Amino acid sequence: MTVQFPLQPNPAPVSPERRAEIMADPGFGRYFTDHMARAVWTSDDGWRDGEVVPFGPIPMHPAAAVLHYAQEIFEGMKAYRHADGSIWSFRPEANGERFARSARRLALPELPLPAFTASVEALVRADRQWVPDEGEQSLYLRPFMFASEPFLGVRPAKEVTYMLIASPVGSYFSAGVKPVSIWLSSAYTRAARGGTGEAKCGGNYAASLAPMIEATEHGCEQVCFLDATHGRYVEELGGMNVYFVTADGRIVTPELGTILEGITRASILILAKELGLEVEERPVEIREWQEGVASGAITEVFACGTGAVVTPVGKLVWDGGEVTSPHAGADDSVTMRLRRHLVDIQYGRAADPYGWMTRLA
Ligand code: PLP
Ligand code: COI
Repeated sequence: MTVQFPLQPNPAPVSPERRAEIMADPGFGRYFTDHMARAVWTSDDGWRDGEVVPFGPIPMHPAAAVLHYAQEIFEGMKAYRHADGSIWSFRPEANGERFARSARRLALPELPLPAFTASVEALVRADRQWVPDEGEQSLYLRPFMFASEPFLGVRPAKEVTYMLIASPVGSYFSAGVKPVSIWLSSAYTRAARGGTGEAKCGGNYAASLAPMIEATEHGCEQVCFLDATHGRYVEELGGMNVYFVTADGRIVTPELGTILEGITRASILILAKELGLEVEERPVEIREWQEGVASGAITEVFACGTGAVVTPVGKLVWDGGEVTSPHAGADDSVTMRLRRHLVDIQYGRAADPYGWMTRLA
């Protein structure tokens, strides 16, 4: 039987006044709703004890395996409020399926898709007042799963906890939809063949923080990683996929293999065809980016992901040089047209011919 998530209401929710204050300027991932969902898995009994409970700290044994060996995965998705007040999510089954793939890679138990979906619906219904109705705000949903068994031997945990928390958010980048600058990491890589690059696991992000410090020191907001074998091919950014628009009407993105298979990336491959662009998934040499932007062969570069949506890239900076896309973020750019199309579908302002939207409440 599917795990259910009955509600244990929070007896002391955030006051409507404080909630309004938070939602006037939520930022990204700073504030959380009144509830959270959780379920527990044990190797003996499988998944059980699903519930939605008051939001709060989680008791954790100091020997919980996640704290020592990082056996952890997560997802990122959003709930959008449409003009009629209804609440929807974008391709949630794709997040649920990726969560299961990440689980397999990290030797965690798979949460069945119906349970994943049930947790999302239950939490969003409990916290529906936290789904913003302003501009491009949304309720960011963060499912995660970790090894909660207290045990210091290195083996897959026999007790695992699944949780879902929610955070009202505005733009991921504090400047909003402004072109971002990218630091090209030459000292560090993100993923190797056979590694965890395709999984959404916390360890990948921990490893991206030292290069992030370098990025900040060079005035950049994100890091671009190259392949671990040759140090020559563009992979992705620390928390988003990357796309190139060429002067001859193509849209190019690095092929899958060691990168995270972004749901935004996959959706853009489809939407770009509607704009008459020829789509290419293939290895992209870093030289192609550097020289292409300089020569005009690449007219636009953009980042995409749930948090970032579609964000124009203005500048690529590396040890010894930089190159700037002169028209990044222009209103009539392919980047901004794709962005508007995607966001219009997500907010219910455009038709949804692919059945991407699922009603939650
Ligand atoms: N790549 C990385 C490393 C990410 O963390 C993310 C998350 O947003 C993405 C790509 C984009 O994935 P999605 O479009 O599914 O959010
Ligand atoms: C997301 O966009 O959902 C992510 O997980 C990326 C993270 C940098 C916030």
